[in-house]
Amino acid sequence: METAEQPKGELVIRTVAMPADTNPNGDIFGGWIMSQMDIGSGILASKTACTRVATVAVEGMKFLQPVKVGDTVACYAWVERIGTTSMRIPVEVWVQPYRKTEQTRVTSAVFTYVALDDNGRPIPVIRDDSQSASSFA
Ligand SMILES: CC(C)(COP(=O)(O)OP(=O)(O)OC[C@H]1O[C@@H](n2cnc3c(N)ncnc32)[C@H](O)[C@@H]1OP(=O)(O)O)[C@@H](O)C(=O)NCCC(=O)NCCS
Repeated sequence: METAEQPKGELVIRTVAMPADTNPNGDIFGGWIMSQMDIGSGILASKTACTRVATVAVEGMKFLQPVKVGDTVACYAWVERIGTTSMRIPVEVWVQPYRKTEQTRVTSAVFTYVALDDNGRPIPVIRDDSQSASSFA
């Protein structure tokens, strides 16, 4: 028996798509979805590095299905690789339509963050899971 696909990684943000987030077609604007992905994975990056971080790259953004007003939008992310100052974080977006129970994957991309010091200069990532700072640009 085939098992339904499940989200990968940890839940980093969950919200509801509102009418103000639509594009001229009435679907949810892709830029809003990307923003949620950046916020959620930025929280994970900042928590991982225990410092402020900045988004340096976004790769492979795929929009697989439209998101509708009222959908619950959840971003899942995981740290795939830690370099010297950078962290590579894949992000998946899953939606649960209003009054439905199933979740569907609608978008994915890979975000890269750089750990920064107080002056905005790259610093080495020293992973410490016991900390939970969250400050990013
Ligand atoms: C983030 C920033 C400080 C990095 O400065 P930089 O001079 O490029 O630093 P480096 O060249 O030393 O690169 C830092 C790390 O990022 C990685 N990196 C840089 N550009 C990258 C790219 N396009 N894709 C993937 N990784 C990249 C480097 O490989 C390096 O990783 P490592 O230390 O783990 O080996 C600078 O690019 C910056 O301020 N960018 C703007 C960030 C921002 O405002 N983001 C929000 C925009 S919406």
